[in-house]
Amino acid sequence: MFVLRSLSVAIALSVAAVALPTSHVDFQKSVAESLRSPPTGWVKDASEKVDKDAASITLKMHLVNQDMDKFHEHAMNIATPGHALYGQHMSHEEILAMIAPAQESSDLVMQWLANDIASPKAKIQRKGDYVTITASVSTIEKLLDAEYEVFVKSGTKEKTLRTLSYSLPDALKDHVDMVQPTTFFGLKHLRSTISEHHPITEAELKVHIGATSAVTGCTGTRITPTCLANLYNFTSAKTQTAGLLGIAGFLEEYAIKADYTTFLNNNAYFSNKGKSFTCTTVNGGTCPSSPAGVEANLDVQYAGSISSNVPNTYYSTAGRGQWLGSGSNTNEPYLEFLNYLLALPDSALPNTLSISYGDDEATVPLSYATAGCNLFSQLGARGVSILVSSGDSGVGDTCTVGGKPQFTTAFPAACPWITSVGGTTGNSPEAAWSGGGGGFSEIFGRPSYQNATVNNWLATDTTHAAVTKYFNASGRAYPDISAQATNFVITVGGSSTSVSGTSCSAPTTAGIIQLLNSGRIAAGKKGLGFLNPWLYNTASAGFTDIRSGKITGCGGSISGAGFSAVSGWDPATGLGTPNYGKLVEFATSTP
Ligand SMILES: *[C@@H]1O[C@H](CO)[C@@H](O)[C@H](O)[C@H]1NC(C)=O
Ligand SMILES: *[C@@H]1O[C@H](CO)[C@@H](O)[C@H](O)[C@H]1NC(C)=O
Ligand SMILES: *[C@@H]1O[C@H](CO)[C@@H](O)[C@H](O)[C@H]1NC(C)=O
Repeated sequence: MFVLRSLSVAIALSVAAVALPTSHVDFQKSVAESLRSPPTGWVKDASEKVDKDAASITLKMHLVNQDMDKFHEHAMNIATPGHALYGQHMSHEEILAMIAPAQESSDLVMQWLANDIASPKAKIQRKGDYVTITASVSTIEKLLDAEYEVFVKSGTKEKTLRTLSYSLPDALKDHVDMVQPTTFFGLKHLRSTISEHHPITEAELKVHIGATSAVTGCTGTRITPTCLANLYNFTSAKTQTAGLLGIAGFLEEYAIKADYTTFLNNNAYFSNKGKSFTCTTVNGGTCPSSPAGVEANLDVQYAGSISSNVPNTYYSTAGRGQWLGSGSNTNEPYLEFLNYLLALPDSALPNTLSISYGDDEATVPLSYATAGCNLFSQLGARGVSILVSSGDSGVGDTCTVGGKPQFTTAFPAACPWITSVGGTTGNSPEAAWSGGGGGFSEIFGRPSYQNATVNNWLATDTTHAAVTKYFNASGRAYPDISAQATNFVITVGGSSTSVSGTSCSAPTTAGIIQLLNSGRIAAGKKGLGFLNPWLYNTASAGFTDIRSGKITGCGGSISGAGFSAVSGWDPATGLGTPNYGKLVEFATSTP
């Protein structure tokens, strides 16, 4: 059973205790969301039998927030240098007061549940923006006109209980905007393919591969913290200690302290060999000392080594919506994680958050993507700088959406309230990495902070003329920035391994942004919070423009698929890669 976290008091009540409405409301239902088929990779598992009366689900229904547009405008002002509200980060209570759902919304939902749930065993709770219902699968099926089935991810043992369609009363249309777990199958980690994860020997590490590197510390094609310090010009950075850097962890990926120590002993750039990190459990997660997660170890080792002596926390979040055959283990972990962070007091919030998880935007229900992106906007307004990997499939794997050829985009990378980090490779010159995710959201419109920059690219770039029909030019464009994404040396299970993917880029930039945030905090200022208005309109000259290479994709189904790195912002590498020495000047001169 999932633990509710919020500052308001939980009201737990059985259905029988809910007062029946005096006025009559018609709870006639219609389909709220439906999928033609499960997302790519998931298939029905006919062999798995579910006892739908015995097994239970905890359903979360999100109530429509009031004044979200007004809040978004406020959150954008807080993040826009020069605005009177710049840096005036909000508390959880201030945000809730601004966007709290209308009383009518929860009243109506409670009336519906009292009306439609017959089982006295169903447990209903109203908490913050949510109403949750824990009940048997059969009770939930009747409530939602749904049919839950077990799906298995091809080639894995991962199973999940989901429905391809569900209905809600028309009377709730303006009051409930998301119901899960229903049609959302989950996010995957973005570390590239497993073939790009291979053990290397210490001797190999010392050998130059290919041409002599143009950058000090970059041995051949291997990336280490020392290489990044030279490439991204943080050799002059002072060791910082203030603040907190957070690293998101899901999917039973465990960050191992012994590997972290080994990695720092071999590869530390700053004098921080004795550093460790704390592991914080979320949603019933655990912090075992094995097995090592490749993604988790990569994320903590790079975010940790680059952020010098700033404390780091790895958030081990349980639940993959996995179906283990019994019990109520169908929690949805990602929103759970964001809600957990939002409920933390200011003093416990990280200044910077690194997220290396995501999936195709087209496979994420619109309601879910919107709810998730709204939670990111709140986290930014709390003062957290959020860096998310842009994806490892370039402009898409299969490149069909609803049967039409189209570039595909990534969630949460294309949410306008996070900083999306694309991939680069090599260093003489540094070029776009072909696998780096980039493009234009199909669901989020273009935010004002990037409007002029992206309009300029659309009007002047000559390399995308042949592919304009495969993307929606009015969507939020990404990535915002980029960083190295190939051949990172990490330690896993005591030995060195090489990994690739934009999963490398997010913790690298998160470490650099944390150095900026910590410097500001040490100087008595606020952290930078939501970064994008500052990145595009104050600090863009703090990035090295990447002008060669191309992101690709679509497996040959669309000729010329991709975007080229060109002069100025582009949807391959964004504004470019960080130059700490220049960025710190902008961070210092920003009030
Ligand atoms: C393009 O994106 C905009 C903004 O997100 C959206 O309003 C519009 O419906 C999209 N157009 C198409 C054809 O998908
Ligand atoms: C973006 O720019 C276009 C064209 O200059 C303008 O019409 C539109 O209002 C702008 N949108 C935003 C969100 O600033
Ligand atoms: C690196 O940063 C220093 C300041 O620390 C700056 O003076 C220098 O110009 C930067 N180097 C490059 C190549 O931009």
